Amino acid sequence: MTEHQATGTPSDRTAPPPLQAAVQPPAAGAAEPASDLSAPRRTFLKTCIGGMTAVSAGTVVYPVASFLRLPATLSESQVVKVPLDSLHEDQALYRDFNGVPLVVVYTGRVPRVYDASCTHLGCLVAWDGGRHRFHCPCHGAVFNDHGEPVSGPVSRPLKVIEASVEDGFLVIA
Ligand code: FES
Repeated sequence: MTEHQATGTPSDRTAPPPLQAAVQPPAAGAAEPASDLSAPRRTFLKTCIGGMTAVSAGTVVYPVASFLRLPATLSESQVVKVPLDSLHEDQALYRDFNGVPLVVVYTGRVPRVYDASCTHLGCLVAWDGGRHRFHCPCHGAVFNDHGEPVSGPVSRPLKVIEASVEDGFLVIA
């Protein structure tokens, strides 16, 4: 093999462009190709950052606003009316009063209303009309028909809820 065959002749090769011509800055006044793409990209990034900022602000503001919201005033509170003729001796009626479970019992004298949450850990007590007692299904607490603790892991009575009789209704407000 001759030297010409190994390296080829100069006419066989194409010369690469001069390095300076490839990296020359654009001429003055010529539009930069990168600026055509950067405007939509910038708008997209601004939109993304704005959206993320709004979501982040919402995750902070909403819990704080919920915490600071004032409780419902008494006039906005729910009023529970129980028709007296729906009360039957030795039976209990359960009602919701602004999120508090109430139990109304009528044992032949006057209807009484209690918060039906057990004073131990808050389970709903069940009325036993035959024995005139409330039983808690969670840990076995027993209350008499005046809401006083009889046995079990409780020392506090059921909370008494004020009620009045008006026009044939037991009104809890
Ligand atoms: S919650 Fe009622 S006895 Fe424990």
